[in-house]
Amino acid sequence: MIRVLFVGDVFGQPGRRVLSAQLPQLRKTADFVIVNMENAAGGFGLHRDAADAALRAGADCMTLGNHAWHHRDIYKLLLDEVNYPIVRPLNYADPGTPGLGWRTFEVRNAQGKPERLTVVNVLGRVFMEAVSNPFRAMDELLERDDLGSVFVDMHAEATSEKAGLAWHLDGRVAAVIGTHTHVPTADTRILPGGTAFQSDVGFTGPHDSIIGSDPEGPIQRFVTERPHRYAVAEGRAELNAVYVQIEWGRAEAIERYRYVEETEGVGGMGR
Ligand SMILES: [Fe+2]
Ligand SMILES: [Fe+2]
Repeated sequence: MIRVLFVGDVFGQPGRRVLSAQLPQLRKTADFVIVNMENAAGGFGLHRDAADAALRAGADCMTLGNHAWHHRDIYKLLLDEVNYPIVRPLNYADPGTPGLGWRTFEVRNAQGKPERLTVVNVLGRVFMEAVSNPFRAMDELLERDDLGSVFVDMHAEATSEKAGLAWHLDGRVAAVIGTHTHVPTADTRILPGGTAFQSDVGFTGPHDSIIGSDPEGPIQRFVTERPHRYAVAEGRAELNAVYVQIEWGRAEAIERYRYVEETEGVGGMGR
């Protein structure tokens, strides 16, 4: 049995700060930690400093999303597979896409025995930029028999597409957990075949914001119908995650975790 902690999209400086403050403690409650880092660099992409900080705080694997390529550092980080355990989205058509769309890790379980865990990051296509079919990409990957338990970070906008992939993969993977919308959903469950599912894990970033941005920019855009500058919101942060307990490739339990700071740097639960 392994217990995986999956932390949602780390967004800008507030997200990096709360991750560095909270993950060292949280990491002790799990055998393996996956953190989605697609918004770590000022809301767009991942830079070296953020990757280093996440690894120092206890991340074992970092996933990405539609902002994977926004910061130029990512090209170097993806080449350094030994020092940077990053998984970028799987379903790009270009066979020359840098990096790996899935990676298999040897995880020490609570008894100290090694278990195989494969982490996959896959992009949805509904209300998003065109990429290859995520359903077919997963089917192709799952033809392999050496993956061990499979944990899928589905980075997508539409709840229907996320539920679609989870039900399609039910019984074949341990978990399908959504990212990208930055809002945690309350549909946490285990499907009949043993796949843990939640449409979106929620993000790790500024609490008083519109999915990470200072409210002013998005509000102006909605009101005026013209583009406006978006800034990363400041102040207190929240951290959203799920724990998934996995036995022989199936989920035994899934639990939501939410931490919200009262003021910057000081936190509480469930707000
Ligand atoms: Fe995101
Ligand atoms: Fe995203």
